[in-house]
Amino acid sequence: MSETVLLERQDRVAILTVNRPEKLNALNQQVRDEMLAHLAAIEVDDGLGVVVVTGAGEKSFIAGADIAEFEGRTPFDQRQAMASPRIFDVMAGFPKPVVAMVNGFCLGGGCELALSCDLRVASERARFGQPEIKLGLIPGGGGTQRLPRQVGLGHAMRLILTGAMIDAAEARAIGLVELVVPHEELRARTLELAGEIASKSPLTVRVAKEALRASQRMAIEEGIAYERDLFCLCFSTADKAEGVAAFLEKRPPAWQGR
Ligand code: COA
Repeated sequence: MSETVLLERQDRVAILTVNRPEKLNALNQQVRDEMLAHLAAIEVDDGLGVVVVTGAGEKSFIAGADIAEFEGRTPFDQRQAMASPRIFDVMAGFPKPVVAMVNGFCLGGGCELALSCDLRVASERARFGQPEIKLGLIPGGGGTQRLPRQVGLGHAMRLILTGAMIDAAEARAIGLVELVVPHEELRARTLELAGEIASKSPLTVRVAKEALRASQRMAIEEGIAYERDLFCLCFSTADKAEGVAAFLEKRPPAWQGR
């Protein structure tokens, strides 16, 4: 039974809630393990098309790695704790879209987890930052690599070198989040977005995510060729035949995921 990460299902959307509100949902080993176990189950569940990740309580999404676990650790201990699979990489490479529903503090590993998601919807109350520098550390969940890709090198430098916290409006302005909504509307608006994606062909959504993710690792010519091949691959699917037929017959498509 999972205790620190709760799984809820709403139609085709899985909602994973980190449930340590008394510690502002800091990521400890148990949270990481339970998150990985849930993701493994969601991956093979055809009834679920999109994952939403959030934090319990009104105050925090995830306030970073659990700092208490760092005390007394040697580099060897830490390397062990960072053994693969890591939640950041599993989420970034997850075959189904993952949406961060940022309800409050989104710091350190929390910000890195949000960066590993495909989309970020934030409450107006959310606060973002990479405060590791204040602990004599640097980001270790991909922050030095994913943050500059998300917001550009200069903004990433400013956030990581100062450890400063920024509000949701600023996070939106630099492109750290895609949507900022009133706090009371966060769940409804996030589920609306997730539901919209989950209503599409799961097969085509998967291919689109793969092509988009490839843009972050491939040179442009290679990426364009990869897109061409994936586009042509779509012509082998039942859902392409259905989508085109439904358009021409002026009716909604019935996706099969094949
Ligand atoms: N790891 C472990 N415990 C954490 C934590 C973290 N990353 N973030 C918060 N907590 C704990 C606090 O220690 C406190 O526990 P306690 O009640 O047993 O003392 C509880 O969560 C509530 O936090 P508190 O600091 O009292 O709340 P606040 O509203 O005064 O401050 C923050 C909120 C987010 C500014 C502050 O908690 C903070 O700076 N957290 C650390 C953020 C960070 O550096 N993250 C990167 C880690 S690498």
